[in-house]
Amino acid sequence: MAVFLGIDVGTSGTKTLAMHEDGSILAVATAEYPLSSPKPGWSEQDPEDWWEAVQTTVKKVLKSAKIKPDDIGGIGLSGQMHGSVFLDKQQAVIRPAILWNDQRTTQECADIEHKVGGRAKLIEMVANPALTGFTAPKILWLKNHEPKNYARVAHILLPKDYVRFRLTGEFATDVSDASGTLLLDVRARQWCKPLIDRLDIKISTLPKVYESEDITGELTEASAKLLGLKKGVPVVGGAGDQAAGAVGNGIVKRGIISATMGTSGVVFAHSDDVQIDPAGRIHTFCHAVRGKWHVMGVVLSAGGSLQWYRNQLAQAEINDGKKLKTDPYNLITEQAAEAPPGCEGLFFLPYLTGERTPHADPYARACWIGLSLRHNRSHMIRSIMEGATYAMRDCLEVINSMNIPIREIRLSGGGARSDFWRQMQADVYGRRVSIINADEGPAFGAALLAASGTGKYKSVVEACGATVKVIASTDPQAEAKRIYTKSYPMYGKLYKALKNEFVDIAKIVSES
Ligand code: XUL
Repeated sequence: MAVFLGIDVGTSGTKTLAMHEDGSILAVATAEYPLSSPKPGWSEQDPEDWWEAVQTTVKKVLKSAKIKPDDIGGIGLSGQMHGSVFLDKQQAVIRPAILWNDQRTTQECADIEHKVGGRAKLIEMVANPALTGFTAPKILWLKNHEPKNYARVAHILLPKDYVRFRLTGEFATDVSDASGTLLLDVRARQWCKPLIDRLDIKISTLPKVYESEDITGELTEASAKLLGLKKGVPVVGGAGDQAAGAVGNGIVKRGIISATMGTSGVVFAHSDDVQIDPAGRIHTFCHAVRGKWHVMGVVLSAGGSLQWYRNQLAQAEINDGKKLKTDPYNLITEQAAEAPPGCEGLFFLPYLTGERTPHADPYARACWIGLSLRHNRSHMIRSIMEGATYAMRDCLEVINSMNIPIREIRLSGGGARSDFWRQMQADVYGRRVSIINADEGPAFGAALLAASGTGKYKSVVEACGATVKVIASTDPQAEAKRIYTKSYPMYGKLYKALKNEFVDIAKIVSES
């Protein structure tokens, strides 16, 4: 038998999963690390922490499932996208990595669009507009603000690709993760030389680009020794966490969409050809499926809005949860169920950290609108869940408007584990939603890429066909669907009405 390792280098921690060649999961281990925010809006991590977490978790899964080094057939990597790791000539890390959720590059985004002759031209070149979280603006930020560090840069890597470098000694990335740098010609699946030249970035600093299933190198003797594995184990390209998560959910064919409600929310659709939204509301990236693409809408605070409520306003439920030995979210959603769909006119805009899709607006902020004496905590909680779900529907609507078929919606993340939120998603989307047998997301997808890339399956599509199955479906309830059909347009109108005021509020905050 062969065992494949999927390693997901996430933002809060690294998860390593060991998968039997038949798709069954043998062991999973996670190790956490800190995130530092040295200034407001900054978000950084030490790449060494990722590498340590990889060593800890690989050793843990080998031990807990009693896997022998000889059994390991391949390794797949996945990770937080868009982060920048800068290495010098000696291959040492120059400064902490700047992460996907860092907001320091507003000026550099404007500069990039200006340098190429406008936003529309940039979208034509790399399929996406410049967003603060993407990698290219971070490179320009380093040049503008830390010129001494910039002068030392010999290699620029994404988070999972730094781990690949430690495993194999190779500088390589995959097409899906490279798409999120803003430097990839997404149509041609190779670096966009004209843009890279225009931004005065040395192409020699960028890693070699592979398809996600391609073998990019092998474990070196030194890394094998550290991990308790054998030298020479192949490491495949892998994918950014969203594309790898989509593989783990079986989103590898036209018509199947996933809606993942985690801290952020992501609506992800496979596409057989490059589909670009000229308004840049949605990301168009290469998929981890060879020669295919995907479009993806990102809601920055989906489950994160409910997490905020738990942390700030639900101390009683946190305490009761401890006493009753239950997750406080169960107590919170029980209360939500007491309020009717539509919350009797109460709306929550979930823009706690601004919004990506469809508004690309860092200034947007969260608010409750429509509060009356009649409203209580149940309405407040339910309206948060409804607001996050309307935001996911915004993403679905953009995908729908691009003529990408939506035949099946697969739910995952925390929002898929609650019966109540599953039903709400069916009602708000107005469509049947399903859940699948696997719940390990990107690490599972990375392991499937390793299995197909090393020849256990003919392709990742075949690997998904053999291992990923729908296990339950939920249909919309007619009455709730009717109410949401009326309320959803009002949700959109409220953002439009407040858009300029959010900018003014930001000015007041920055001036005070
Ligand atoms: C995708 C994105 C996040 C990060 C962190 O565009 O920004 O999914 O990859 O998970």
